[in-house]
Amino acid sequence: MEQIHVVLHPAPLQGHIKPMLCLAQLLSKAGFHATFLVTHHTFKLLPDLTALSANFPNLHFQSISDGLPEDHSRALEFGSFSKIKPYFKHFLLNYSLGDNSMSPPLTCIITDQYLPYTLDTAKELGIPIFSFVSHSACYLLAYLNISKLIEQGDHIPFPDDNMNQEINGVAGLEGLLRRKHLPSYCALKDIAQNPQIQSHLKDIFDLKGCCGLIINTFDELEITILPQVATHFQKVYKVGPLHALSNSKINQNLSHLVASHASRWQADQSCIAWLDSQPLRSVLYVSFGSHAKASVSQILEFWHGLVNSGKPFLWVLRPDVIIGEDGKHVIPKELHQVGAKENGFLVDWAPQEHVLAHHAIGGFLTHCGWNSILESIVAKIPLICWSYDWDQMINAELVSKVLEIGLQLDACDRLTIQRTVQTMMGSKREELQNSIERISECAQHVIGNGGSSNQNLETLVEDIKNIKL
Ligand code: UDX
Repeated sequence: MEQIHVVLHPAPLQGHIKPMLCLAQLLSKAGFHATFLVTHHTFKLLPDLTALSANFPNLHFQSISDGLPEDHSRALEFGSFSKIKPYFKHFLLNYSLGDNSMSPPLTCIITDQYLPYTLDTAKELGIPIFSFVSHSACYLLAYLNISKLIEQGDHIPFPDDNMNQEINGVAGLEGLLRRKHLPSYCALKDIAQNPQIQSHLKDIFDLKGCCGLIINTFDELEITILPQVATHFQKVYKVGPLHALSNSKINQNLSHLVASHASRWQADQSCIAWLDSQPLRSVLYVSFGSHAKASVSQILEFWHGLVNSGKPFLWVLRPDVIIGEDGKHVIPKELHQVGAKENGFLVDWAPQEHVLAHHAIGGFLTHCGWNSILESIVAKIPLICWSYDWDQMINAELVSKVLEIGLQLDACDRLTIQRTVQTMMGSKREELQNSIERISECAQHVIGNGGSSNQNLETLVEDIKNIKL
């Protein structure tokens, strides 16, 4: 029998690439020929990716153009991915339909949901396609309801500029959804007639014909939300937390290799030696993920808040996190003074999964990226939530109000930061720790033998094997 061949195509973003790479690794372990297809630009940023093939012989890497000139900004904006379509189609026609003697004929595609051209192309070529979502189901559900809310007219376009206003009537998101959780275009008065937005919503959420949704979450995490998400898809495969599922099914060292090879920046391992010298559960880990930005003054508020909290902290300050007034990335001179006196340790990029697993870590101040939340849950580290954009705001609400495993920063001034850190590492510590241990146990259970994520992965593997071409 011919080997099953799956093409996995992530959006060109760190937080999307890593979980899809975990899935690719798991499918290659199941015996599938897995082709991980990224853009040339991503490939240049992640030069170590191909080295993974040495450890995973069924895992292959290919890249295509994103249709943009070399020096074009890759900042995310409307239509960012629209120029990839012809290259994607060309790739499928020339490489994967079986003419290429290096690979078996293509069985199906697993695409990032945010790459709208993939659904059209797969339909045109008659190739089965699954949709993959790397963020929370609550954000997906909010998004899936935008068109309905526009039709109803009460909530979208936003009637005024109170972004904290709750949005009622979305099944599964009662008491959770607020205007600020939705994209800013929901404020546009002409949203219902705006062709660009209408086509964006249709492209991304026209899911009829897609074989199913693969999502990096599990039931206990989003209990009221997942049944509602399921009404939009033929089938839903909840396989989260994917990093932990791949850690448990594949040699641990190999899955850490995946984490480091999927990173754009080199992790600074020196922070592990520094953590070794810190007392148990004493250190706050601070990281804003792979794309969030902050102004110089915002970073200084964080710095003063952290230093004044009196707690040791390990802070990831990516070289491009700060936007100076002239648009250049500069680390303010005050931060260079951080040293033993202030109890802070700064790195450009950390080996995050290792850091969270370290006994010295007692809390995580995060931008609430979904991968960071899942990694913190697995490591049983309570959170402080500062959200930046996309799914992060509704994730923060889920973490603090529903799961009660973290505190939200109500404001971003130094005093609020200082007090929230002290509360989280002090009086609220035990309560938060107990809640996160409960949900972490569920995570361990779902990835174990007979656990739901483990079984859903097996079902996905079987469903792919049963695809009739
Ligand atoms: C963003 C979204 O907010 C997220 O929810 C969505 O699914 C993807 O896009 P990002 O900013 O990359 O994600 O954050 P997050 O989802 O938390 O992913 C960051 C990843 O980078 C994590 O897997 C984390 O372990 C890794 N990381 C981060 C490091 O390895 N080292 C670091 O220093 C910081």
